[in-house]
Amino acid sequence: MQPDQPILLLDTGVGGLSILEPVRALLPHAPIAYALDQAGFPYGQKPEAELAARVPALLGRLVEHVDARLAVIACNTASVIALEPVRTALAIPIVGTVPAIKPAAALSETRTIGVLGTESTVRQPYVDNLSREFAADCTVIRHGSHRLVALAEQKLRGQTAPASDYAAVLDGLFSQAGGENIDTIVLACTHFPLIEEELAAAAPRPVRFVHGGDGIARRVAHLTEGQPWPAETRPGTGIFISDGSDIEPLRAGLAEYGLTRLETL
Ligand code: DGL
Repeated sequence: MQPDQPILLLDTGVGGLSILEPVRALLPHAPIAYALDQAGFPYGQKPEAELAARVPALLGRLVEHVDARLAVIACNTASVIALEPVRTALAIPIVGTVPAIKPAAALSETRTIGVLGTESTVRQPYVDNLSREFAADCTVIRHGSHRLVALAEQKLRGQTAPASDYAAVLDGLFSQAGGENIDTIVLACTHFPLIEEELAAAAPRPVRFVHGGDGIARRVAHLTEGQPWPAETRPGTGIFISDGSDIEPLRAGLAEYGLTRLETL
């Protein structure tokens, strides 16, 4: 293991920054390669079979390109669909991002949890299994929203949206049977913690939001314990799997997360 071998994170866009932030806080000297699969965006609206093939192939290419020591699938959709094929295909440790239903169930007083993810994530059997295993005594209400992914992408490009846009998405949870009892919402898409403040402000009453970023950072720290790191924090690299669109509007947003070197693959 060489000190400059990076931790690789993959998402379709800016969502994985909600994982990168706690990883950087815990491992400030870790070299970072952050891949944005713009060409595959949005994973949340792709057929399962397509993702189960695309994600392992792309991660394999990226791991080789940057000589990663560990990879984080910083996307719930890709994790609940492709974690196993990725682990089968790659030899380095892989950390997935799965909906934080377990911590949400531990916190909910009303025993009613909302799960906000992409359309694809909320319909996966993986979510049924997590609910059965960790929230058997809770009512789990799900809502899938691509609109919320788009709002997070816009925010990182410096664009704002009215509170009513966020309220309309939350209504997809609260208006379901039993929705009036929700006290805890799982942000089961990595894009959503980036707009947690906007969601909280738009909610009709106070609710608790839960996501897995800190737990993933602890897992990464555990898996890399004892490994060598550079002596100082280095600029991180943003790697665009390009769909041909202009990357300039994201430059400032990515720089806030230490990603000041951008390249296109
Ligand atoms: N950030 C991804 C997730 O956590 C979803 C974004 C997309 O649909 O591409 O599910």
